[in-house]
Amino acid sequence: MESPKITLFLLSFLLFSTLSSATSVVDFCVADFDYPVGPAGYPCKNPANLTVDDFVFSGLGVPGNTSNIFKLATTFAIDTTFPALNGLGLSMLRLDIGVGGVVPIHSHRVSELILVIDGPIIAGFISEDDTVYYKKLYKGDIMIFPQSLLHFQVNVGDEPALAFVSLNSASPGFQTTTPSLFGNDLPTNVIEKITLLDGAQVKKLKELFGGTN
Ligand SMILES: *[C@@H]1O[C@H](CO)[C@@H](O)[C@H](O)[C@H]1NC(C)=O
Ligand SMILES: *[C@@H]1O[C@H](CO)[C@@H](O)[C@H](O)[C@H]1NC(C)=O
Repeated sequence: MESPKITLFLLSFLLFSTLSSATSVVDFCVADFDYPVGPAGYPCKNPANLTVDDFVFSGLGVPGNTSNIFKLATTFAIDTTFPALNGLGLSMLRLDIGVGGVVPIHSHRVSELILVIDGPIIAGFISEDDTVYYKKLYKGDIMIFPQSLLHFQVNVGDEPALAFVSLNSASPGFQTTTPSLFGNDLPTNVIEKITLLDGAQVKKLKELFGGTN
């Protein structure tokens, strides 16, 4: 015969196992920017100070400014712009790609799903064995870009393209290959060696992205 004490113990044990196997012991943790970010995200704001507006982000309905070298505007709903995403493992972006514009080749440490609203665009990624998977996408198409792989999008239509992207982190960690390579003081001769590009091309790209040396 089980005593009530043992039953209670078993129940507590089950409850404890459930909690410890879950990814979090709180339902939400709206980022408090008064403290530094750590590997698990930001510390939580006092729940007593939250309102529904902490859980709403407005701004993805507005086209971004595409007057730039890539004719691209990205509007970010990530932890730093939408603190309620902190710790929840997801984020969303609006992409406006002008006529002839691109999302230049880039990567991030989590996977991405794109939903095309106005296309067509050509989207693709390059796998670890250098196979390229790319395709022309139209309104309503979605495509996956697996975590950490290089990928890109190109507006191949006669109108501005619009897409929304979701990523499975509140802090996806974007790295855009060309500006990352040429927007710093890594010496031209080193870049020539590590890319096999010629010096004139390296200098040209450094000028474009604000690099020196
Ligand atoms: C948050 O709420 C607590 C108690 O409800 C209050 O004492 C504190 O001043 C509030 N903090 C902010 C930043 O509003
Ligand atoms: C868009 O960005 C360009 C370049 O930064 C700027 O000159 C222009 O005024 C901006 N347009 C709007 C509508 O903000």
